[in-house]
Amino acid sequence: MLQRLTLLGSTGSIGISTLDVVARHPERFSVFALCAHRNLNLLAEQCLQFAPEYAAIGSAANASQLKTRLACAGLRTQVLYGEAALAALAADSNCDTVVAAIVGAAGLAPTLAAARAGKRILLANKEALVMSGALLMETVHRHQATLLPIDSEHNAIYQCLASHGAADQIILTASGGPFRTRDAASLADVTPAEACAHPNWPMGRKVSVDSATMMNKALEVIEAHWLFNMPAHCIEVLIHPQSIVHSMVHYADGSMLAQLGYPDMRTPIAHALAWPQRIPSGVAKLDLTSIAALNFERLDPVRFPALNLAFNALQQGGAASTVLNAANEIAVDAFLRGRTRFTAITAVIERVLERFEPGAARTLEEVFTADARARQLAQEAVSAYEHCAVTRRKA
Ligand SMILES: NC(=O)c1ccc[n+]([C@@H]2O[C@H](COP(=O)([O-])OP(=O)(O)OC[C@H]3O[C@@H](n4cnc5c(N)ncnc54)[C@H](OP(=O)(O)O)[C@@H]3O)[C@@H](O)[C@H]2O)c1
Repeated sequence: MLQRLTLLGSTGSIGISTLDVVARHPERFSVFALCAHRNLNLLAEQCLQFAPEYAAIGSAANASQLKTRLACAGLRTQVLYGEAALAALAADSNCDTVVAAIVGAAGLAPTLAAARAGKRILLANKEALVMSGALLMETVHRHQATLLPIDSEHNAIYQCLASHGAADQIILTASGGPFRTRDAASLADVTPAEACAHPNWPMGRKVSVDSATMMNKALEVIEAHWLFNMPAHCIEVLIHPQSIVHSMVHYADGSMLAQLGYPDMRTPIAHALAWPQRIPSGVAKLDLTSIAALNFERLDPVRFPALNLAFNALQQGGAASTVLNAANEIAVDAFLRGRTRFTAITAVIERVLERFEPGAARTLEEVFTADARARQLAQEAVSAYEHCAVTRRKA
C-alpha cells in the first residue's frame, strides 16, 4: 500500500530533505499534496517531479501563476491558496501522513487539523508544540493520531525509548552553534549571515538563528517535555560539538542509550516515514573510526540565557511557552531584517516575559490571544532597542 503524503512546508530545508527520501522509495510513498508559502519556482519544480493531486501556496496571485505553469506542462494538479487550504489538505481523507515542516506559528493550525483528522503526523514544526503543548497532545490522543518526531534530537529519544520502559532522564545534545567559542563581548556585532552559517546542519534562516542563540535547544526542551511527558527537571542539555550523538536517555539501572549518525536530517525523516520499519535514507553508515573524538560539555547559562527562559516558562505553565515562542519569532525576524542586534534577541524575549502575565493555553483561542499579545509587546521591545541603537549612534 502506498503511503500518501501531505507536505506542509515542502520548499523548506526539511521539505526538500523529505522529498529526497521519498524519491528513493516510489514503491512506498506517493505525494498527495505539496504546500509552500512564497517559493513559487521551487514548488513548481517539485510538482513537476512528484505530480501531486494538490499544491497550495500563500497568495492568490502565486496560485494563479502556478496553475498556468502546471497546466502548460500537462499536469492535473489542483492549485489552492491560503491558510484554510493547508488545514484542508492536512485533514483530507485521501492523505495518510502529514509532514509538518512549516516554520513558526503558521504551522499550528494545519498540524492541529491533521491531529483532529487522526493522521500520522511527522513533526518538525517544534513551534506548534511549544505554543500549544497541552492542546496539541490532547488532540492527538483524543483523535488517535500518531505523532512521530523528526527533529533529530527527539527522533533520537523516540528511538532510545522504544519498548525499553520508562526512562529517568532525557539528555538533549546541542552542537553549540556557530558562536560556542566566540568572544562573548563580540556577540553584539554578529551579522545575520554569520548567525545563519551553522557549522554542522544546513537549515532554514529562522532555525539557524535559533541555534545560534540556543533558543532552538530551549524550544526543544519544551518539545521534549510534551512529546515524552517528561518533567522539566529530568531534561538536561549537553554541548556536543560533533553532532554525532543526537540525544540520549538514562534508565534507572544505570544504562544510557543514545542514537548516533551523521548530522543529516534524512536519517530521522526516513525513520519516521517508514516507522516501524527501516528504509535507506541516502545517508552513509557512520564510520566511528573516522571521528577523532566525541566531546560533551556543560552549557554556559550566561553565554546562552535562552535555555533558562525555557525552563522558567515550563515551570510557569499555561501560555508562558506560547509567549516565549511568539516573542522569539518577532525578535529573530527583526534581527534578520537588520533592525536589532543579535544580543537583543533574548533581551526582547526576557522583556516580554517580564511584562506579560500569560493566562491559560487550553483552547486555540487562548493560545492565539497570548500569541498575539506577546507579538505586540515584542514589536514594542524591538522598537525600543532600535531607538536606543539610533540614539547611541547619534551620540
Ligand atoms: N532544517 C532543519 O534541519 C530542522 C531540524 C529540526 C527541526 N526543524 C524545524 O522544522 C521547521 C522547518 O524548518 P526549515 O529549516 O525547513 O525551515 P525553512 O527552510 O525556512 O522552510 C520553511 C517552510 O515553511 C514554509 N512557510 C513559511 N512561512 C509559512 C507560512 N506563513 N505559511 C505556510 N508555509 C510557510 C516555507 O515556504 P516558502 O519557502 O515557500 O516561503 C518553507 O516551505 C521549523 O519548525 C524548524 O524548527 C528544522
